[in-house]
Amino acid sequence: GFSWTLPDHPKLPKGKPLAVVVLDGWGEANPDEYNCIHVAQTPVMDSLKNGAPEKWRLVKAHGTAVGLPSDDDMGNSEVGHNALGAGRIFAQGAKLVDQALASGKIYEGDGFNYIKESFENATLHLIGLLSDGGVHSRLDQLQLLLKGASERGAKRIRVHILTDGRDVLDGSSVGFVETLENDLSQLREKGIDARIASGGGRMYVTMDRYENDWDVVKRGWDAQVLGEAPYKFKSALEAVKTLRAEPNANDQYLPPFVIVDDSGNAVGPVLDGDAVVTINFRADRMVMLAKALEYADFDKFDRVRVPKIRYAGMLQYDGELKLPSRYLVSPPEIERTSGEYLVKNGIRTFACSETVKFGHVTFFWNGNRSGYFDETKEEYVEIPSDSGITFNVAPKMKALEIAEKARDAILSGKFDQVRVNLPNGDMVGHTGDIKATVVACKAADEAVKIILDAVEQVGGIYLVTADHGNAEDMVKRNKSGKPLLDKSGGIQILTSHTLQPVPVAIGGPGLHPGVKFRTDIQTPGLANVAATVMNLHGFEAPADYEPTLIEVAEN
Ligand code: 3PG
Ligand code: CO
Repeated sequence: GFSWTLPDHPKLPKGKPLAVVVLDGWGEANPDEYNCIHVAQTPVMDSLKNGAPEKWRLVKAHGTAVGLPSDDDMGNSEVGHNALGAGRIFAQGAKLVDQALASGKIYEGDGFNYIKESFENATLHLIGLLSDGGVHSRLDQLQLLLKGASERGAKRIRVHILTDGRDVLDGSSVGFVETLENDLSQLREKGIDARIASGGGRMYVTMDRYENDWDVVKRGWDAQVLGEAPYKFKSALEAVKTLRAEPNANDQYLPPFVIVDDSGNAVGPVLDGDAVVTINFRADRMVMLAKALEYADFDKFDRVRVPKIRYAGMLQYDGELKLPSRYLVSPPEIERTSGEYLVKNGIRTFACSETVKFGHVTFFWNGNRSGYFDETKEEYVEIPSDSGITFNVAPKMKALEIAEKARDAILSGKFDQVRVNLPNGDMVGHTGDIKATVVACKAADEAVKIILDAVEQVGGIYLVTADHGNAEDMVKRNKSGKPLLDKSGGIQILTSHTLQPVPVAIGGPGLHPGVKFRTDIQTPGLANVAATVMNLHGFEAPADYEPTLIEVAEN
């Protein structure tokens, strides 16, 4: 029968403290001026790379290697940390929604049948990120859902858009709005009253995460549910074009707006009896709105009016909280994660990041599960992030504080595994500010040094890796790798993640001298890290985990 007990590794000892460091958004790419990791002074990461070749290697962090639909899909933190923690590749939200739409099963489930009850007499609201980034949502899935819902009786539809510019190029919002408006006008020709009702930039409206700043969600609530916003427009295209023309405006941070009719009334507030679907499949930036929509008791902001709605998520965002209770597509069933195994085998675990990445090394690492497996063996520490700023103005973020917490945890002797996420490369990379991203990379490297020094002091082991690329490439390129220019001759800044591989480096005085990376695994990915971590703790990984990256030489 099934057992949580992991077999002892035949050669590797137990009891060596292990630091697991995830550099968020730290990929490997050719060195040039748009590679901020290359430009920045990163002596520690450089020394790992230029050290023993059997202790540093690259692994895949994008596409099918992390459960995404295709190898054209860039990596992201959700799927990256899921793979790192779970040690296996699960079909992820993007793919599961694709499959459910293609087979039509999405329309047969409890979630759709539930919201359908509102179609006859009320409005269907679709709220989510409008882009083809494929990280949180995808435009083509929204298009299919609009078509499917209208064919199944939805008569009045309101779409509440969040503009992207973070997983896709800044400025692309205009094209996505045009495409959506075109689809909606085709629905109107068929007699369906379908319109965009509100909008705003994803980083300023709705899509906060890990409860960093509830004001973001409130701004969305006011526009989407109450129909109130500082800006009112007759059409979303006019809204996005006008608001983008403001100085320093960008897609990520557009202010909230509502679409109004000729008498100035919002065209799509959420009313009693309506159905609401949040169309994002990814959890971290939708779960706060899900709470506001679903919970009767809610004190994070004044909702003013709480309509009685039928609400479903595209996916269930939190399996532990069962939130939301209704959803259109079942999430990946990520169970038996390495974190759970290791805790059950006595590994005392410390995990830390700052707010904006805290859930990455806890919730995502543990298979989209919040909370501890065993409170007596785990401690998760969240360092409050700066809120209300874009991280290019404070690119060092809390890297130092995270490293100091990790150092203290390592030196305390109370933990077998100390796991951190250093957010800088990613969070600053997303701003598109190249200078600031260079500062960010340096700060992350300095944090790694603090952690490795502590590992050295206690005779421990380290494993340093990343979840996906970002800071190593800040420019959009053509097929031959040349930077693409925009209409005015400037480079096209890449705010998004990349398709690049990421490093895995191992070492430390506690590492058995015979340990080296295997050469017999052709194209390993992030999912191979979990078995590696288990080995470094002195255990064999479960048989169905992706194979370990390491082997132990005889002498
Ligand atoms: C975000 O949510 O900030 C981006 O869409 C993806 O970034 P992450 O996957 O690194 O969190
Ligand atoms: Co990112």
